[in-house]
Amino acid sequence: ATVDNFVNELPIPVEIRPQGSAPIKLPARPTEVWMGLRDKDGKRIMTKAWGFEYAGRIHSPGPTIRAREGQPVFVHWANELPGPHLFPVDRSIHLADVKDPKAVPMVIHLHGGHTEWKSDGNPLAWYTRNYRETGPLFEKRIYEYDNTQDAATIWYHDHTLGMTRLNVYAGLFGFYLVGDDNEDRLIQEKLLPAEERTFVAAITDSLFSSDGQLYFPGWRDQPPSPVSHEAVKVNWPNPSHLDEFFGNFILVNGMSWPKVSVTPHVYRLRLLNASDTRTLILRIDENTPFVQVGGDGGFLDHPVKLAELILAPAERADVLVDFSGYEGRKLTLRNFGPDVPFKGFVEANDPKSSIPLVYNPDGKRVLSDGRGGITPATDPNTTGQILQFHIAPKSTDATSNKQKSKIKSTIGDLKLSLNTPLRTPLNRLNHASRTRQLATYRLDDPYGRNLLMLGPVKEGSLFFEDPTTEIIQHNAVEIWEIYNPTVSAHPIHIHLVEFQILDRQPFKGKLIAKPQKFMHTDKIFQGARLEIESLQGKPLPPQPEESGPKDTVIALPGQVTRVIARFDREGLYVWHCHLLSHEDYDMMRPFRVLAPSL
Ligand code: C2O
Ligand code: CU
Repeated sequence: ATVDNFVNELPIPVEIRPQGSAPIKLPARPTEVWMGLRDKDGKRIMTKAWGFEYAGRIHSPGPTIRAREGQPVFVHWANELPGPHLFPVDRSIHLADVKDPKAVPMVIHLHGGHTEWKSDGNPLAWYTRNYRETGPLFEKRIYEYDNTQDAATIWYHDHTLGMTRLNVYAGLFGFYLVGDDNEDRLIQEKLLPAEERTFVAAITDSLFSSDGQLYFPGWRDQPPSPVSHEAVKVNWPNPSHLDEFFGNFILVNGMSWPKVSVTPHVYRLRLLNASDTRTLILRIDENTPFVQVGGDGGFLDHPVKLAELILAPAERADVLVDFSGYEGRKLTLRNFGPDVPFKGFVEANDPKSSIPLVYNPDGKRVLSDGRGGITPATDPNTTGQILQFHIAPKSTDATSNKQKSKIKSTIGDLKLSLNTPLRTPLNRLNHASRTRQLATYRLDDPYGRNLLMLGPVKEGSLFFEDPTTEIIQHNAVEIWEIYNPTVSAHPIHIHLVEFQILDRQPFKGKLIAKPQKFMHTDKIFQGARLEIESLQGKPLPPQPEESGPKDTVIALPGQVTRVIARFDREGLYVWHCHLLSHEDYDMMRPFRVLAPSL
């Protein structure tokens, strides 16, 4: 199979604007999608994928749902997946316990949604086709999103226990855009581009077999990923979970290396990194800056100008790019992610060794592709490219050219400057009723595979199925300190809340071996407990573009990352690493918010 870069137009997902309280039915179904691949005769190769059916067509990735602050949306995410799975399913990890070996479980989570817990898509709330089998926390068929939140670029995706990476890779995700009056005002006052100059872009990476089908490594006798050092080893389960996934094709909205035709104006791009493990470091040719106006949970207080944009898996960025002055030209959006090496890190986190932990001595934000310093070579011709902007030869309206010659402080043809407030300033939380110390752990499972876990510092590594340790008073404001003694960065996501990043700080400590039961078995394996020895230097404030409402934060290796949030809805939720291969095994923990006391 071959693909020509920047020839095929960027697909824009169909939009759904729910009206009233009738639920929208979005059945998950198999389909075939053209992802830009052709055979040697130039014929299109169709790739098997999963998507959501809407208005008589199956869309993969799924449709964009347009919601409005305060107006509830009801969705019936029906499971009409025939099974068996498209990809190898490892049954040795904590998995949705489906009796029918051919059935495929699914459950959808609205990532960034301020959602009641019964509609939150808990990993244990999965269900198979026609609800023949359901998970232990399955509660209801029709999910309610009440949209009690600010305008934001959020997204939905599968969240099935132990299978999220596979179901999302198959295509079960899409955008969910919350709008509000403030956003309308920004557009009306020409502080933001109009709808026709706004588009969504979900960036993913994939592997394809030579016949153009999606490939997910995991079977012993099949070739490992060409960009991964992992292959299923003889003593591992077969198929086996791998602790990372890197594809060598970049897709945007499901199309390999697309182009997008624009006019010489300012455009608004709502970017999402929906890949499993790959952290993106984005730049546009000719040092064309990004002006970031929003992050995960909504608008920033003020725009932030950036030469380089970092997006870890699940993070979103709402950015403006000014194409005026580039009439008739092409600009490429590139990725430099995996080229950034780890600096100042030493691998020393063997729980048995008791030697000082790794930390980053200069305290700078160090970028990670999510693996311990073994970086896949980024090919500037493949994973180093994302999409290309083709700018129309001349502007249809004369104003943008006229304005260009003037020295101006606004961005392109917008009235926006870097000082313009984008919202009433975020209400900064500073008083917490409780501070929790939590940590990430990288361990060896009984098969000798990497096993990533979370847990309170006091208790050490815990499995997802271990009893809930984070029990929170209703409406409490809490600080969560996430200590990361592993060698890689982990994008940590907390459900329910949009938190604020307080700071990051290097620390020293040691890991102490902690024998514990391996999942539900009686096997004993070496877990770990973190002993914090000292904090290093001064706490480092978040980057300006991280200062808005966030639901996913990069926890850098050797540092503690502190966030603060108000937990204002009761129920059972989860927090986890958003490298999908980590969250599936077993880097996820439950938390519970108690009912309001009378
Ligand atoms: Cu984007 Cu718990 O997920
Ligand atoms: Cu992780």
